[in-house]
Amino acid sequence: MNRRYRKTVIAGNWKMNKTAAEARTLIDELKPLIAKVKWCDIVLCVPFVDIPAAIKAAKGSKIAIGAQNVHFEKSGAYTGEISAEMLAGLGVKYVIIGHSERRQFFLETDDTVNKKVVSALEAGLRPIICVGESLEQRDQNVTLDQIRLQVKIALKGISAKELKKVIFAYEPIWAIGTGRTATCEQANEVCDNIRACLREIYGARAARSVTIQYGGSMNAKNAKDLLAQEDIDGGLIGGASLKANDFSQIIDAANQ
Ligand code: 13P
Repeated sequence: MNRRYRKTVIAGNWKMNKTAAEARTLIDELKPLIAKVKWCDIVLCVPFVDIPAAIKAAKGSKIAIGAQNVHFEKSGAYTGEISAEMLAGLGVKYVIIGHSERRQFFLETDDTVNKKVVSALEAGLRPIICVGESLEQRDQNVTLDQIRLQVKIALKGISAKELKKVIFAYEPIWAIGTGRTATCEQANEVCDNIRACLREIYGARAARSVTIQYGGSMNAKNAKDLLAQEDIDGGLIGGASLKANDFSQIIDAANQ
């Protein structure tokens, strides 16, 4: 991380875990553990139905609430979907867009990711855009090509001013939920490449202020070393965000 130019952001992605009552319990446990945190922003991306309870429980703390997905249209005949405006109306501040699980199981494409980023920004939400390569792509040495493609398409039509609200999360698919973390060098190489791509489009000043997270089996043990890398400005954490103690240890590492 490099706090001179950008914010450190630790975000939990609960995925399809926790009822509203469980959400309240976890946030109540977490609050005293993070009461003194100064140098890092904290986000919990919870299931849609947990959002009102989570916002209520997090009130008065440093925890901001995010969603895990959003639809790209403002309203209309899209059964089962949720718009950015609906989320913003509840007090949601962030939304994860293009997580690899959504790309894999719900057929999201770079193009729908772009549309969702546009609608999130229009509603005043901060998108956390996920990019990452499969193991096959890494083995074939096309990781950086894949990432550049994802980054560029995600940002189609996004201005330099809007970019200030955008967070990227580099999540190698082979590291998600596998216990197999990217090495610090691998993770930093890709985050550095994301920034180089932003530099080409928006210039050096804009690029250096974008927060780029790493995600994929980040935990209390490996967080410190990953976060010590110049271009890793935070984490998007799955499994280890489901326990207050584990998650607060990662936040402590980011707060150093
Ligand atoms: P894990 O931390 O469980 O590997 O999940 C990472 C992730 O997918 C966060 O979005």
